[in-house]
Amino acid sequence: MTVREILKMGDARLLRQAKAIEHFNTPELLQGVADMKETMLAASGAGLAAPQIAWDVQLVIFGTGQVISRYPDAAPVPFTVLINPVITPLSSEEQNDWEGCLSVPGLRAVVPRWQHIRYTGFDQFGNEIDRTAEGFHAKVVQHECDHLNGILYPQRVRDFAKFGFNSVLFPELAPEKSA
Ligand code: NI
Repeated sequence: MTVREILKMGDARLLRQAKAIEHFNTPELLQGVADMKETMLAASGAGLAAPQIAWDVQLVIFGTGQVISRYPDAAPVPFTVLINPVITPLSSEEQNDWEGCLSVPGLRAVVPRWQHIRYTGFDQFGNEIDRTAEGFHAKVVQHECDHLNGILYPQRVRDFAKFGFNSVLFPELAPEKSA
């Protein structure tokens, strides 16, 4: 396993439409997933998308092993490898909450996301995934899957009064997990 460099906003490779994965359970795919997991853990991230390590495929990983301080009511999100994902909103209800990104270090913004979603796809072995999620779990999935469409969260900010440096916005809190 290798900790890979995380691309930062401004790198054109973050703006690509990622390619679908056609073959599962290959050595290349399993190695890539292992590298992504190592990279996310090293960065204390809550999620990571393949384009963030310049891997042009529709693959994201996410998960939180513990309750996150800013979302004390959020249930821990199981560690998940999600490939070729499809997200369907289950209602028109939105959540507006703070978000960060490992490709946009030090910054944070309030971003609108669907509150309730269904997401489908596959794991690295080709097993089907079909889940419903809400709240923080739903937000992380939407943030990560945006990366596969070349979208970084600043593109979704509506109120730029709620976009700033983490250290200024939340000086009393420890650095928050980003995705
Ligand atoms: Ni991100």
